[in-house]
Amino acid sequence: MTRLAIIGTGYVGLTTGVCFAHLGHEVVCADTDADKVARLSRGEVPIVEHRLDELLVEGLHKGNLRFVVGGAAAVTDAEIVFLCVPTPQGEDGSADLSYVEAACAEIAKSLAYEAIVVNKSTVPVGSTRVVERVLRRPDVRVVSNPEFLREGSAVDDFLRPDRVVVGCEDRAAGIAVAALYDEIRPPVLITDPASAETIKYAANAFLATKLSFVNAIAAICEGVGADVDDVMVGIGYDKRIGSEYLRPGPGWGGSCFGKDSRALLNIATEAGYEFDLLAGVIAVNDEQFDRVTDKIRVAAGGSLGGKTVAVWGLTFKARTDDLRDSPAIAIINRLIAAGATVRAFDPTVNAAKPGLPGDLTISPDAIGAIVGADVLAVLTEWDDFRWIAPADVAAAMPGRSVVDGRNLLDRTAWQHAGFTLVGIGR
Ligand SMILES: NC(=O)c1ccc[n+]([C@@H]2O[C@H](COP(=O)([O-])OP(=O)(O)OC[C@H]3O[C@@H](n4cnc5c(N)ncnc54)[C@H](O)[C@@H]3O)[C@@H](O)[C@H]2O)c1
Repeated sequence: MTRLAIIGTGYVGLTTGVCFAHLGHEVVCADTDADKVARLSRGEVPIVEHRLDELLVEGLHKGNLRFVVGGAAAVTDAEIVFLCVPTPQGEDGSADLSYVEAACAEIAKSLAYEAIVVNKSTVPVGSTRVVERVLRRPDVRVVSNPEFLREGSAVDDFLRPDRVVVGCEDRAAGIAVAALYDEIRPPVLITDPASAETIKYAANAFLATKLSFVNAIAAICEGVGADVDDVMVGIGYDKRIGSEYLRPGPGWGGSCFGKDSRALLNIATEAGYEFDLLAGVIAVNDEQFDRVTDKIRVAAGGSLGGKTVAVWGLTFKARTDDLRDSPAIAIINRLIAAGATVRAFDPTVNAAKPGLPGDLTISPDAIGAIVGADVLAVLTEWDDFRWIAPADVAAAMPGRSVVDGRNLLDRTAWQHAGFTLVGIGR
């Protein structure tokens, strides 16, 4: 058992805190948001994430998980402190370290003697030095331990990680951080801080590249009459390629890929390398938002002015409530700018949620969103949409055009119900 403090209780910090408590450590989590701290202390999870509620209640009941306001209150007894605060995109595309610096300034004087401070936030190469500089505590060792969890399966990813990466100059500190994960026996890679920080950016950039590649092949499939779903099954059999992460879609998004890709472009430039490949990956993604918007325009009869578009799905992917950098929002903004009225439904989003376009109407259910619609667009792969009967949609929606941005719906069933269904790459 190790005494831990977690600074920041968002998607990463909360998952880290409840999972380490589940593994038997003594955990104090801190956030600057007093309302969030009060809700978490009552056992209420403020985000949608499978199993987080169960492990939160377990930790509160066992008594080895607590929530406090402000980092200084959390760290006084902690042997190891995890920084899990945001690192948003700065104005020039690089990662903005101001939250990390602010958190370090808050905790510097309260840290226990010889504590270890861990960067779990995604931070550019050299950030362990930034943390050391702000802390000004020669007794404290700084370690990098990037997080690879996926929203929607964060708890399972944390408790069954593909690997744990620890970057350290002080090997004993690195081993102490790696030992926190002993019970789950993950593959552990201990490396220098710069390599650990680069691994995180390289992994996200590679995944974004894979998705842009699939969407580019999808565009070719449309031109040559091939079916991208079959093409991806066909290439996925090749073990060198692998079958995961080969699904076409309306473009990639989420809180990490966009900002981390741009941050890596910046890191590359500073390192003297123009990363044209990654710039192309980002450009292909922006084009994909335009391509899907065009499909909806064509489905609406060639113009979006005065048309009503129903959208199913707002989050950047299914099984999360996260709207940050969601492709659905990027496409809806384009539809509204072109004169369309948009009504949307998402199982996890209500009208009060921050981050929604101002002119968007939110419907409380999927059928409510299609009333009066000329076109239906599916933009998030929620399983719920798959099971809605096309006949029910036909009865409520005047239009007969569907753009399936996730290749989610059963093409044959929808065509039988009288719909023209356009997917991605087929
Ligand atoms: N979300 C993901 O899927 C994911 C995955 C891997 C890595 N990351 C990285 O992890 C970091 C955190 O991401 P997130 O999605 O959890 O962010 P988030 O916005 O969900 O949560 C951040 C939390 O930190 C709190 N906070 C900010 N400043 C604070 C301070 N000084 N003291 C205490 N709390 C403070 C905020 O109130 C918020 O609750 C980022 O660097 C991100 O790139 C995110």
